[in-house]
Amino acid sequence: MDKTNNKNEWFKTWFDSPYYSILYKNRSDEEAALFLDNLTTKLDLPDRARVLDLACGKGRHSIYLNKKHFRVVGIDLSNNSIAHAKKYETETLHFETGDMRYFNLSLKFDAIFNLFTSFGYFESLDDNLKVLSNIKGHLLKDGFFVMDYFNAYKVEEALIPHEVKELDGYKFDISKEISNGQIIKTIAFDVEGQPFSFQEKVQLLYDEAINEMLASSGFEILHTFGNYQLDSFNTKSSDRYIVIAKLK
Ligand SMILES: C[S@@+](CC[C@H](N)C(=O)[O-])C[C@H]1O[C@@H](n2cnc3c(N)ncnc32)[C@H](O)[C@@H]1O
Repeated sequence: MDKTNNKNEWFKTWFDSPYYSILYKNRSDEEAALFLDNLTTKLDLPDRARVLDLACGKGRHSIYLNKKHFRVVGIDLSNNSIAHAKKYETETLHFETGDMRYFNLSLKFDAIFNLFTSFGYFESLDDNLKVLSNIKGHLLKDGFFVMDYFNAYKVEEALIPHEVKELDGYKFDISKEISNGQIIKTIAFDVEGQPFSFQEKVQLLYDEAINEMLASSGFEILHTFGNYQLDSFNTKSSDRYIVIAKLK
């Protein structure tokens, strides 16, 4: 179903690796639930509304949304994450592997969520536009698109150039730098004496750039927020940049 490309893109391997899951295993499900409670109340989504969780990972948001009686599809590029998520499928919760640039579900949604910085991974900014165009094609006329990105100002300001994290017997040596408009995180560790190294490269997209990209892709911005409690966005203090948009 997907068109894919054969490029050796970092996000195809890193997110699918078991070490990614170990490094990020302490994500808070409570925080995700609180955000979704606030968000779905704000959007006033009716029961059984169709929601697409785009780049759903192992499905933590999708599963919670389905418990809240929404009909949910989760899509992610990682085969391993989708295999895990599929264990939680119900009549109204489905997961599929797919690339956000190319998936085609032949179905339109009341809301499409792209949560927890699941954007900005591409070398070419044109790929961002491909994602937005694909989202447009899957959104009902009055549907909502929600993008939850980091606050680039704060990320830049608070960048920790080097740290070591020990988890499950692995010692992850993490360095971060900003180069070429991307935050580049290098993660090095040993497995049974063998050295491994992965890189995450995420575009440093500021709020204005996100707004412009959405506007030029045919979206109208309805609300912006700076955290999962949905407080106002502030360039200095907010952790997140969260946008609710709809088609113009
Ligand atoms: C930071 S994680 C967030 C996952 C999930 N939204 C969550 O909050 O748990 C980013 C996710 O994006 C997925 N991803 C990366 N590139 C993708 C692409 N081109 N198409 C679809 N999913 C992609 C990764 O596999 C990963 O699961």
